[in-house]
Amino acid sequence: MKTTYLLIILFLAAACQQRNESAMNSPMKYDEKFRPQYHFTPPSQWMNDPNGMVFYEGEYHLFYQHYPDSNVWGPMHWGHAVSEDMIHWEHLPIALYPDALGYIFSGSAVIDWKNTSGLGSTDNPPMVAIYTYHDPVGAEAGRNDYQTQGIAFSLDKGRSWTKYEGNPVLANPGIIDFRDPKVSWDESNERWVMILAVLDHVNIYTSPDLINWTLQSEFGHTTGGHGGVWECPDLFPLTDQNGEVKWVMLLSINPGGPQGGSATQYFVGDFNGSVFTPVDSVTRWIDYGADNYAGVTWADIPEVDGRRLFLGWMSNWQYANVVPTYEWRSAMTVPRALSLSKTEGGYRLQSRPVPELETLMGEAIVSHNSTMDLSTESYLVEITGIHDRSLEITFSNEQDERLVVKIAADRLMIDRTKSGDTSFSEDFAAIHEAPLMGASVTDIQIYMDRSSVEVFVNYGEIVMTDLVFPTTPYTKVSVSSKGVGLSLTPMASIWKSK
Ligand code: FRU
Repeated sequence: MKTTYLLIILFLAAACQQRNESAMNSPMKYDEKFRPQYHFTPPSQWMNDPNGMVFYEGEYHLFYQHYPDSNVWGPMHWGHAVSEDMIHWEHLPIALYPDALGYIFSGSAVIDWKNTSGLGSTDNPPMVAIYTYHDPVGAEAGRNDYQTQGIAFSLDKGRSWTKYEGNPVLANPGIIDFRDPKVSWDESNERWVMILAVLDHVNIYTSPDLINWTLQSEFGHTTGGHGGVWECPDLFPLTDQNGEVKWVMLLSINPGGPQGGSATQYFVGDFNGSVFTPVDSVTRWIDYGADNYAGVTWADIPEVDGRRLFLGWMSNWQYANVVPTYEWRSAMTVPRALSLSKTEGGYRLQSRPVPELETLMGEAIVSHNSTMDLSTESYLVEITGIHDRSLEITFSNEQDERLVVKIAADRLMIDRTKSGDTSFSEDFAAIHEAPLMGASVTDIQIYMDRSSVEVFVNYGEIVMTDLVFPTTPYTKVSVSSKGVGLSLTPMASIWKSK
């Protein structure tokens, strides 16, 4: 009798899990008001930073800060999804749950090809996640050492996870903000490198085995923006257009961004495996919009591909918890390939939307005048052959809500003051500005997706990402200048086009 009862329970639990998983990927969902159609969003509830981005056996893994029980930030888990192209995603069950050591904050994942950790084998190398434990009890008790680093591993392509029994692997020296480890393999020194955000700077550690870590250096106490706490670092090499290899350090900061609140700065320099030396002390921003935060790059992209692929969280801590979406909260940016160029004004990082997005593109409609009707909510608008130093591109609807992207006085601007619903936060209705830094603007690409706008000048030289919440969809786009090319390319839904 007892056995029958148990079998029934197991059967019901399995059916329930199957139902949940098929609901997660059901094409009927993901169609709520403001739900992006070609950007990654969680199945439901809260999401923030991308975590553990790693490529393995043909799959891009995306883990993310997730609270499955509410649409506002709370006890953090790692949500999980996989994709073969960074565009179409399959949601998988939650990978990491909070445990006795705390919530699971941001971090990274690597493939331990040589099994340096001993957690797998060289035949089946472990996928290892390195993340921050945030102990809410220690925080509540007023301690200063409640953020530590832990690891977990998977031997089945990220489908199931085991936390390392010796966690934490890196204790806290008594600094409240001590988090977001980004780990990579240093082939020339045959060891792992971890870059960790520590309040107002980063620490660089090395390890032979992902378990024992040694502090090598600190960077940033007096360099870069210091209007807020440093978070979510990344450190990787890029080759500039002259074939010279430089190292790029990404660093998110909150608050203190150019539009207020959160933003991601970067430094360019040299790295000898232990110490990062910047070429200058200029503060540069990867994106001048208000809504690209905590972005980092994918680990283990095969050498034949060779791209440095980036994804950011499309929100800002100023209002992330109160944006007018309810079934889910937050989306990621479109995936972007990063490149570095050396200009007269110094090094610049470009972000270019990945060509994989083209699989979603319908036929481009070319306009013969300066206005076009919009019959979809997810599309790419391209303006080419720009000569003027001033130009306005306006998206509007019947309510006379308008989102304006403009070039004026050596600045790129997004004016979302009258773009739709801005009532949820007094920080939202604003004009955002980016310096053109001497670039002469010839082309602008604007990716719109129901509640976001991503503007790429000259295919990624200057970038601005903003959220926007028109109460009804924009129905018209118009350009102030007649002498430019204007085209509209509809983008298919990733939830329906697979
Ligand atoms: C960045 C951040 C990280 C932290 C995580 C918590 O947005 O504050 O520093 O690990 O979010 O969810």
